[in-house]
Amino acid sequence: MTSSNVPVIAIDGPTASGKGTVAQRVSERLGFHYLDSGALYRLTALSALRHGTPLHDEHALAKLAAGLNCSFVSDSIYLAHEDVADAIRAEEVGNAASRIATLPQVRHSLVGLQLGFCKGPGLVADGRDMGTVIFPNAVLKVFLTASPEARAERRYKQLIGKGFSATIRDLLKDLQERDARDANRSVSPLKPAEGAHILDTSDMTVDQAVSQVLAWYAEIRKRT
Ligand code: DC
Repeated sequence: MTSSNVPVIAIDGPTASGKGTVAQRVSERLGFHYLDSGALYRLTALSALRHGTPLHDEHALAKLAAGLNCSFVSDSIYLAHEDVADAIRAEEVGNAASRIATLPQVRHSLVGLQLGFCKGPGLVADGRDMGTVIFPNAVLKVFLTASPEARAERRYKQLIGKGFSATIRDLLKDLQERDARDANRSVSPLKPAEGAHILDTSDMTVDQAVSQVLAWYAEIRKRT
């Protein structure tokens, strides 16, 4: 979807795989822009929940997505003038995001916004379809994953740290349902892009994962 010469690193993977943290750190190390595409689905979901828009009303949801008034400023994510960076991480919002992300018109409404992040000197984009659909010309594609148990535990720590209550058992169930929905939907299903490097971080620290992605990128830069 983009023909620009801006280098893009696409990092896709399932929920709570750690791709957000890894992608953000890689972008900082390279001085690149960062796109958290999941946040756009979460912002649309939060907006829908607040407006009482039914989660099956594709047309109304696509309109909400197209009209999203959001901005990303360091760790803050603004919806209009309100910082909703924590609110969009709630499980209810994540589940709603996963449901509305199955709707083609909603996905279509968010394409332009995502492409807008692709600016020099480069972009690190994380999501489900960065390497397959949004940035198929990405110079590096990574599919970052981890076992469901490792992901449930990470998600648990993240939520507790933000003051939400949670149990590992419920999180594991939620995460498996969300994986199935993300992988089995007909539009832009979650799957490794062709030529993607698979990175299983179950037994890796964030620093190790970041180093691996940077090493792959350095290798590519050497060749081009
Ligand atoms: O990465 P995340 O958990 O913040 O994403 C929230 C939901 O958004 C996820 O369940 C699937 C959807 N999503 C998507 O369909 N495509 C993307 N590029 C990013 C997220």
